[in-house]
Amino acid sequence: MDVSTWRPMTLGDLEGVLTLADVAFPDHFEEPARFEERLRLSSTTCFTLIAPHGDIEGYLIAYPWTYGSAPPLNGPIGAIPENADVLYIHDLALLPVARGKGYTRAILDHLVEAVPLAGWQAVALVAVNQSVPFWERNGFEVLAIPSMSTKLASYGDDARYMVRGLKR
Ligand SMILES: CC(C)(COP(=O)(O)OP(=O)(O)OC[C@H]1O[C@@H](n2cnc3c(N)ncnc32)[C@H](O)[C@@H]1OP(=O)(O)O)[C@@H](O)C(=O)NCCC(=O)NCCS
Repeated sequence: MDVSTWRPMTLGDLEGVLTLADVAFPDHFEEPARFEERLRLSSTTCFTLIAPHGDIEGYLIAYPWTYGSAPPLNGPIGAIPENADVLYIHDLALLPVARGKGYTRAILDHLVEAVPLAGWQAVALVAVNQSVPFWERNGFEVLAIPSMSTKLASYGDDARYMVRGLKR
């Protein structure tokens, strides 16, 4: 069976990543500059899923952030916060052809292993697209943090802050 593989994302991947993002996140448009900024700030925590024929089938963008907060949707972040204590998953998306094959579990396991090594406390994200059950299957839990309600609303009605590996 032909297997696709994750590898670190490069600037050259961005065109394909943006095409995929348009399909995967139709209600959460972000400008190309947002993707490039995140990749430049944290290239070791961004990955691309490559099919055997070379096409981009998925991507994951993550970067260090602070527990209990979310970055602006389609806004610049400027820099990684000095007090970053979680690894924040900004986007995870696969083409439909690559779904249901275990590719997300592989990259999430990889990230979770990297978190304590880097000194972070947890992996965090804002779940959109009704994806809470998917994240729960992957070990994340919803946290209700009142101070985040306005920010979460800017991501959409169904947006939920989720964490795997709670801060102690
Ligand atoms: C969210 C998204 C990335 C999930 O894709 P996915 O990983 O293929 O997730 P699925 O739940 O469809 O498939 C995983 C299932 O594949 C199955 N699977 C098939 N072959 C497998 C294998 N070899 N190894 C592991 N699992 C395998 C498992 O049953 C697994 O289910 P489980 O998680 O209960 O164990 C995808 O739906 C997507 O790109 N959506 C649009 C973007 C989006 O909404 N992203 C999240 C918003 S925050």
